[in-house]
This record gives sequence, C-alpha cells and structure tokens, in this order.
Amino acid sequence: MDIFEARLTDLETTADARFSALEASSQRIEESVAHQVFRTSRFVDPNPFESECLGSLGLPNTLSSPGLSKSLALLLNFHLLSTPKSCPNLFTTVKSAVQSAISKEARMGASLLRLFFHDCFVNGCDGSILFDDTSSFIGEKRAAPNFNSVRRFNVIDNIKSAVERACPDVVSCADVLAVTARDSVVILGGPNWKVKLGRRDARTASQGAANSSLPPPTSSLSALISSFSAVGLSTKDMVALSGSHTIGQAQCTNFRARVYNETNIDSSFAQTRQGNCPRTVGSGDNNLAPLDLQTPTKFENNYYKNLVNRRGLLHSDQQLFNGGSTDSLVQSYSKNPGTFNSDFVAAMIKMGDISPLTGSNGEIRKNCRKTN
Ligand code: HEM
Repeated sequence: MDIFEARLTDLETTADARFSALEASSQRIEESVAHQVFRTSRFVDPNPFESECLGSLGLPNTLSSPGLSKSLALLLNFHLLSTPKSCPNLFTTVKSAVQSAISKEARMGASLLRLFFHDCFVNGCDGSILFDDTSSFIGEKRAAPNFNSVRRFNVIDNIKSAVERACPDVVSCADVLAVTARDSVVILGGPNWKVKLGRRDARTASQGAANSSLPPPTSSLSALISSFSAVGLSTKDMVALSGSHTIGQAQCTNFRARVYNETNIDSSFAQTRQGNCPRTVGSGDNNLAPLDLQTPTKFENNYYKNLVNRRGLLHSDQQLFNGGSTDSLVQSYSKNPGTFNSDFVAAMIKMGDISPLTGSNGEIRKNCRKTN
C-alpha cells in the first residue's frame, strides 16, 4: 500500500466513524424530540381529519415550531413519516367495537377503563399488562392486583384485530387501550377528550412492578397520595381519577373488612353489603358488589356523593373523605359535576402520558399478547 492509499483508507475510516456518530446522535435527537413532542401535546389530535391519521398527527404544527432548525425538522419529519402511516378509521373502528362489547355486558366499560389504569401505572402506558405468560416469561396478569380481577383481555384482542385489519402495523396496543378507555367513559355518559397517540408497545413486562406500583384497596390516604406521586400524578389527579369508581364492581374479598370492621361507614349500607359478602374469609370471596351503589353503569359524580354519605365501598375510597386533606375536593366534586369532569379529563390525559415509549423504543405489537 503506498502512502496515498494509506491516507485514503485513513480518511475513509474517519469519515465512516463521523457518519456513524452523526447517525447515532440524529437518532438520539429524533427520539428525544419525538418524546418531547408527545409530552407537549403535539400528538393531540388537532382537527378531525388529523386526529384520525396517526402519521400526520400534529406534524405540520411540529414542523413549523420556531425552536426547530430546518435540518432537525427534516429529521423529525423523516422519523415520523417513516414510522406511523395514516389510519383514517381508527376512532370509528374502536368506538364501534367498544359499543358492541358494552351492549353485550353492562360492566364492560368499567373493566376496559381499569385495564388502562393498570397498564399506565406499571412502567408507563406501554401495553405491558396485555402480555401472556410463557414458559420463560412471567408477565403482569398474575400479579396480585390483576389476578382474577383485571378482565376482558379478549375484548382488547378483538379491537386490536379490527384496528390491524383497518391499518396494519400502525397503532400500538398501548394506544388501543388509551382510546378504548376514553370511549368506555363516553359511552357510559362521561366526558369526552382528545386522546394523545403515538405510544409504542413494550417488549417486556414486570410482575414485580405490577405488585409494587398498583395501590391496594387497604391503602391509607397518604399511601394513595404517594403511589400516585410516584408516577407524577398529584393528589388532585388521584381524587379525580378515583371517580372512575362511579362504575364497575368489586369482589367481597376487597371490601369485607370495611363492611364488617370499620366505623366510618353508613350502617345500613354496611348491612346491605354484608348481605352478599359473608364474614368468613374464603366464603363468597368473589361475590360482587357495585362500587357505586346507585348507578354502576353510568359515569357521573355519584361516587363522591356516596363518599360524603360514608358509603364508599373500598377502604381506600372512604380514605378520600375521612377528615383529611382531600375532604374539600370530594365535597366539591359531589356538588359540581362539571368540575369533576374537567379535572377527570385532565388527569386521564396526564395518566396517559406516563413514560410513553417513543422513537425507536419498543415496537407496534401485532398481537397484544406477545412480542412480534
Ligand atoms: C386510588 C387507588 C385505587 C385503588 C386502591 C383501586 C382499587 C380497586 C379495586 C380493589 C377494585 C375492585 C377489583 C376487584 O374486586 O376485582 C377496583 C375496581 C375498579 N377500578 Fe380501581 N382502584 C384505584 C384507582 C382507580 C383508577 C385511577 C381507575 C381508573 C382510572 C380505576 C378504575 C376502576 C374500575 C373502573 C373498576 C371496576 C372494574 C370492573 O368492574 O371490572 N381505579 N379498583
């Protein structure tokens, strides 16, 4: 090799190294910008057309952001266009599937809303709760707060299949959960909101994290506050999100101690609940009672009216109105459905923002039960 060839090889090596470094840093910038874009609501569906097109969600706004240099905008453009493509029928597809599932079973909307909560609290809204166990992998379904309790995974499978038929490989299982939760609330008479999209799915799950991140119904007020604060949610978010217990059912094992042993409970309510929840542990453990005694399939503010009347079903429910710092908020939600609705929506959007996987992290799972 003569001196010119050697010099040429040197230059090529340096150029290759610089190019790789540039590529890696572009990738990092893209991921970080995509993440920021997600967090600063630019993924919020800005108009009816864009809202139905994942690929173009907020893109024009994003590209004209003054803070972005032209080259960065191009990178971002490439990044976003090269991942999700449009899915014009996403919202209609999900909504009709949720509607038909709810008409088959009135409790369905509650179960679907809870799935989203149990997904987001465990390492973020990444669809990790949907993984099935395998011989070499233990997921979240058998974690204590989920086992024999979180339900209707089959409905998410059906919705995801319908979405895959409409637009293959574009919409994550995590986003399907987010849209499904919103639609459930709306169909049951609750408030509407624009669901942010663009989350990607985890490739792994953690049973341990599910056991430690989800608050049990035996929680004190301070334990509830800290478990929400651990995922960036305020006490107000916690009180507003707990309003979800205006729909759905709980098992005797989760409210037995409250209806037999507690004193901050309306006595005729306790008696009614004892009727279908025997005192002896192991007897009637799975018997169900409505979380909202009047209207467990209607989404409104009755939950808070119950708390003010000491008719919260779970110990953790009544903690929100028990002489502590959240009493005034509960009072206010019990009287002002509008305030509850707007705080609930704000908190749902915040919950949906917990640690999303964006950029090239995670994947868009085809089948929510397993990695691709
Ligand atoms: C504040 C802390 C919370 C605790 C301790 C808690 C605990 C529970 C428990 C023990 C049940 C009954 C499960 C069973 O007996 O099988 C339940 C049901 C439910 N939870 Fe929560 N929860 C909390 C917050 C939330 C949040 C933030 C949401 C939604 C955003 C939610 C939505 C629901 C729904 C809709 C049901 C009824 C599910 C059904 O009928 O299938 N919960 N919760």
